[in-house]
Order: sequence, then C-alpha cells, then structure tokens
Amino acid sequence: MINWDEFEHIHVIKKLKEILSSWWNIDIVFTNEQGQLKGMAPQSVKFCNPAVSALLTKNAASENLTDLVSKTLEELRHSEHRYSIRKWDPAGYDLAIVPITIDNDFMGSVVAMGFLNSSDSASNRLNEVRERLAAFGASEQVIDKAISTIKFIENQEHSHFLELVELVAQEVITLHLEITTRENRIKELNKELGSRYKYDNMIGKSKPMQSLYSLLDKIKHAGSTVLVQGENGTGKELIARAIHYNSDRKDKPFVIQNCSAFNDNLLESELFGHVKGSFTGAVKDKKGLFEMADKGTFFLDEIGDTSPTMQVKLLRVLQEGTFIPVGSTEMRRVDVRILAATNKNLKEMVEQGTFREDLYYRLNVINISVPPLRERKEDIPLLAEFFLANSQKNESNVRKALTKRALEKLYDYSWPGNVRELQNEMERALVLSGAESKITADMLSPKVLEANEKGKVQGARVHGRLKDALEDLEKEMIKVGLRRTGWNKSKLAKELGISRAGLIMKVEKYGLDKRKMLKG
Ligand SMILES: Nc1ncnc2c1ncn2[C@@H]1O[C@H](COP(=O)(O)OP(=O)(O)OP(=O)(O)O)[C@@H](O)[C@H]1O
Ligand SMILES: [Mg+2]
Repeated sequence: MINWDEFEHIHVIKKLKEILSSWWNIDIVFTNEQGQLKGMAPQSVKFCNPAVSALLTKNAASENLTDLVSKTLEELRHSEHRYSIRKWDPAGYDLAIVPITIDNDFMGSVVAMGFLNSSDSASNRLNEVRERLAAFGASEQVIDKAISTIKFIENQEHSHFLELVELVAQEVITLHLEITTRENRIKELNKELGSRYKYDNMIGKSKPMQSLYSLLDKIKHAGSTVLVQGENGTGKELIARAIHYNSDRKDKPFVIQNCSAFNDNLLESELFGHVKGSFTGAVKDKKGLFEMADKGTFFLDEIGDTSPTMQVKLLRVLQEGTFIPVGSTEMRRVDVRILAATNKNLKEMVEQGTFREDLYYRLNVINISVPPLRERKEDIPLLAEFFLANSQKNESNVRKALTKRALEKLYDYSWPGNVRELQNEMERALVLSGAESKITADMLSPKVLEANEKGKVQGARVHGRLKDALEDLEKEMIKVGLRRTGWNKSKLAKELGISRAGLIMKVEKYGLDKRKMLKG
C-alpha cells in the first residue's frame, strides 16, 4: 500500500505543488483508489485557495469528493483517457483527476482543484461558486479571496498544468517503488542476518558483524596477538575488551595504553616502569603497565603512532616477553597477551618505511578489520534503539522511538564518524526531543538531514518564466533519474512517462550524457 504521508515531504512534489499554486492557483490533494483523501489532514496543509481547505474540512464536501473521484476512477479504468476534468459541486468549481497507476492497478489519484473551465460563461460560474461556498458556511472573506484568485483555464491550456499534475502522480509511483524496493531489501537482509545481535556490549546483526562474532569465538582462548584495524569510532576498543573478557585471562588485569598520548620518554616509563633516580622526578621505583598486566591482557591503542625507538622495544616484548625498566639493567619477564589497534593503514606504513615490518608481522598474527558503519547499514536501527534505550535507562520516562522518516534519514547518511557519531547523534536527539515521545526527523542534526536531500531535486524556481522553471525541473529529474537507474534510459523513460526517443532528445538538449555527467 502507498504510504501517503511520505510524499508531502518529498522535495520534487513540494516544488511541483508550489509551481501549480503560483502559476495556476491550483491546489492538489491525494486520494486512495476509493477516492478517500490521503496524506496530511486538510487543516494542517496550507492551501493557496482558502476555500479548498475550508471545504475539505467539511465532511459533506469531502464525502462528495470521495464519491466523485471513485466514480471518475471507475470510468477512467474503462477508457483511454489519462485524466478527467469534473465539476466539484459543493464548491462550484472544477477539478482534474489523474489516476496513480502501478502495473495497471489504480493505487489512488492526484486531484488538482480550484480552477474554472473558461469555456463556460464567466460571471455565471463565479456567482455559482459564491453561492455554493456560502451554502457551505464559508466566510465572506474566504469567498472573496477565492473569487478574486480563481483562474479560468482555457481548454487548450489544460495540457500544460495537467502535465505537472501527471508528473506528481509519476513521482509518487517512482518513490513508492523505490521505497518498496528498499523495504524489501531490508526484509531480505534481515532474513539473511544471523540470530546473534549482540556480543558482550557490541551490537549488530549484519553479516560483517556475524563473521566478527564467530572470529571472536575462535580466537578468544587462543592467547595470540590480535591487531584490530578500522576507522574512527568503529568499536575497536569494544572488540579488545570483548576479547579479554571472554578469554581465560578475564579475571586478570585488562590494561590499556594509548600510544599516541605521550612523548617517547614518558611512554617508555609508563609501559616498562623505571627505577628510582633514573631521571629527574623519578623519586622511587615505579612499576610499568606491562608488569601490571602480567597474566592479563595489554591493549596497545593507536599503535600506528609509536616512534621507531618505541617500536624496537615493543618488538622485544612481543618476541621474548622481556623488557628493561628505564634506568635499570635488569631484564624483566612478563606473560601478557597483546592486543593492538589503529585506524592507520599499517601495511602502507610498512611499505613507506614508517612502521617496522617485523613488528607488523608480530602484531598481525590475527587480524580483525572492523567494517565502517556505512558498510553495515542494516545495523543502524538496532544501534540507534540501543543508544536511545541506554541513555534513558536512568530516567523514569517511557522509552522513545524513532519515527520511520527519522530512521530513513539515519539510513541515508554516510556516518564518517561511525558508531560513535551515531551514538552522539542519538544523545543529541534525546535532548532536543524534550518531553516528546517520538524522535522525529527534525530533531536530527543538519548534516544528517542534508545528506538525505542530495540526489533529490534542489531548489526548482517558482519565479521567473514558467518555461525556464519547468525546464529546470525536467533537467533535474532526468539527471537524478539517470544516476538512479544507472543510465538505463528505457527504464527511466518508462518511469517518466515519455518515450525513449523523447528522453534521448532531452538528454542531448540538457547535455546530460554519461561522460559529461561523470566528469562534472
Ligand atoms: N557494535 C557496537 N555496539 C554498540 N556500541 C558500539 C559499537 N561499536 C562502537 N560502539 C560505541 O561507539 C563508541 C566508539 O567505540 P570505540 O571507542 O570502541 O571505537 P574505536 O574504534 O576505538 O574509536 P577510535 O578510533 O576513535 O579510538 C563507544 O562508545 C562504543 O561503546
Ligand atoms: Mg579507540
């Protein structure tokens, strides 16, 4: 079934509505296949003709519309016509009804309303409108406004605005199909997904996460060194923790050192300890982290940031399990499992000579590469819910949920900061949501919302020459459509309701051929 509410927010449709209203003073509404009004409730929509909204909120008038539309659709079903122009009795003015057809099925219609057919006697019809609106209890003011703005449209002019109304119908169809395809894809992905959605504190049930979980299962008891690689915020530390706390060493210390945090000297003394008097300020012996981690796990974070000198010292611990505290001559021995993480490409660093090859191989016994969030978008809903539930844990109020639209926005964004960025986004949204029970799209940050608008038609004009505005829109729709269909002109022509030859001509006219577009 078509989800009508969605379409009110679509940029292309909004722009088409604006053009229709500014050029012809025409309002459009959606109905389902039975002719019932769909989309946003009339009282919440700003109509260009106040009489339209006044009437649509009246039951008798909207029921009459439902009847009229369902009868008309029935007739259109058995005719060759693509639309029908009717008089809407309660208002006295005319409507154009354009069916929304998918696979020869009528899914609903777009109704354009608020004009008068100029073939008829003008003053008679205006008087009629005045009478009808008054009979429906419209105020004097609303009636005057309706009368003064109503447009008489010549028969031969119908085709111009109807083309736009048909575009709206076409856009509804395209988007509906797109959404259905996406929903099916999500459903399929969910089917493919394993049953495990969690490993310790790690959330995710996408395929990459499932393979990560089974890898973790295999290596947790092995005791071998693990190198975790992945972009910022992908959960490298979380993985290191999961390895330790699921291993035989779980009751022994888990020690973390960020290797980029200190200069060499400090880092060395942090890691290996020092003896009293070895440098100014070393007033007594200090145990290093390696000794503290004995029998446990040592997590060397940001390993890619260690200096060549440090790399040699680390190599020795890895090779021999030994080290020498700063200022000492005595070698110490420890039994630690080493985990290391970095967001750098160590292999490349080895090739460039900035990271020791021998250390790289010692660390890289088992390699875990954590996929960025944009490569496992199926996890977004689960993660988002998890973060919402987690940050609300301490508060008594009910659990907040994301609206479908908000979730779609999250889905469309590319998340360069990965899971951490999503976590921050959810915390921000929670604050903004205040007492509301739902997290809606407008509570998301601009970067997330903007990402979504890309690929949609940007800023069609509503002023200037109509022809230019239409050409702008046409060009934009073709451009977007070409990208979306992967330059499948037959498919796009069908979607746009024009012939393939017609589309090719337009592509030529606007300079939209593939080579130029990929360059630009
Ligand atoms: N799969 C996940 N499930 C739940 N929370 C996650 C997941 N991955 C990451 N997080 C959360 O995202 C934040 C960042 O994770 P973490 O610190 O482990 O990432 P990182 O890869 O070490 O990041 P950086 O490269 O910045 O050091 C943490 O708050 C963590 O709890
Ligand atoms: Mg980290």
